[in-house]
Amino acid sequence: MRILALELARITEATAIAAAEWIGRRDGKKADGIAVEVMRTGFNNLDIDGTVVIGEGERDKAPMLFIGERLGNPDSEHKVDIAVDPLEGTNSVAYGRNEAMVVMALGGKGDLLQAPDVYMKKIAVGPRALGVVDINASVADNIEAVARALNKDRSAISVMVLDRERHLDLIQAISATGAKVHTIPDGDVSACMATCMEESGIDMYLGVGGAPEGVLAASALRCIGGQMWGRLTFRNDDERGRATRLGISDFNKIYTMNELAHGEVMFAATGVTDGSMLRGVRRWSSGASTQSIIMRSKTGTVRTISAEHNFSKKSLVED
Ligand code: FBP
Repeated sequence: MRILALELARITEATAIAAAEWIGRRDGKKADGIAVEVMRTGFNNLDIDGTVVIGEGERDKAPMLFIGERLGNPDSEHKVDIAVDPLEGTNSVAYGRNEAMVVMALGGKGDLLQAPDVYMKKIAVGPRALGVVDINASVADNIEAVARALNKDRSAISVMVLDRERHLDLIQAISATGAKVHTIPDGDVSACMATCMEESGIDMYLGVGGAPEGVLAASALRCIGGQMWGRLTFRNDDERGRATRLGISDFNKIYTMNELAHGEVMFAATGVTDGSMLRGVRRWSSGASTQSIIMRSKTGTVRTISAEHNFSKKSLVED
């Protein structure tokens, strides 16, 4: 696994550079499409026998690295499962907004939950609030618990929530406790991760986002020491059918972070547009710069890699 870390960064970097060409072009599908293509090529150049267990796109009919797709070299001794979100924040790229990143996680066979592309209710906290929240508890009780763990007043607690109509009641409930609500247009993988970075000022993430993003966030939190839970939420029988086809029979199951991602996992992300965690891609005539984060659950090492790419010496997907 360890040996793959830099290889993963190469893939997320190349994908981010390609996707960055589409910033502000109001065409999320094209941005997603190119990201998928570059990522697929990158994986196919790696010495892994990988299976995609988390792909994305079914929900919004975007181009996808589909679940079950084999990547790399089937004869490789590195048998891995792969979770990808080639463009986490497709709309952020399309409309030139912050916080878009290329995201992936790698685990051993069976280590990453094969989650259907439906929604997931999530709760995430950072390392200083481990073991104090409960996805079934009321918003007020969770905020109180986090406030106590962090030795803060409730009014000093900041909760991040996706800015969606479905969250209007949730936002009201958070505000009613006196806590602060930070709404974001997209990107709940980085929102979950923000709870683990004290300088972000975010103490908790709450709300309903994509289930694939839930597995990616759990992989990241396993590495940086946060905690999260998720419960799949279904809007119709078609979505329940997707879960059934992946072997899920308990539709009310609450997944712990370790059930979402266990074993030795590796997480990699590169910023496409500027974000609170990663700087976005910068382009110039003969090159580009990127910022990436690579983490491993086994060691907890978090590497931030700033790279300059010289296109007069190499193409996007080779090194
Ligand atoms: P994609 O850009 O990868 O589609 O996801 C962006 C995102 O904001 C995720 O971070 C989040 O989990 C999901 O969309 C929420 O879905 P929706 O936009 O349908 O509310």
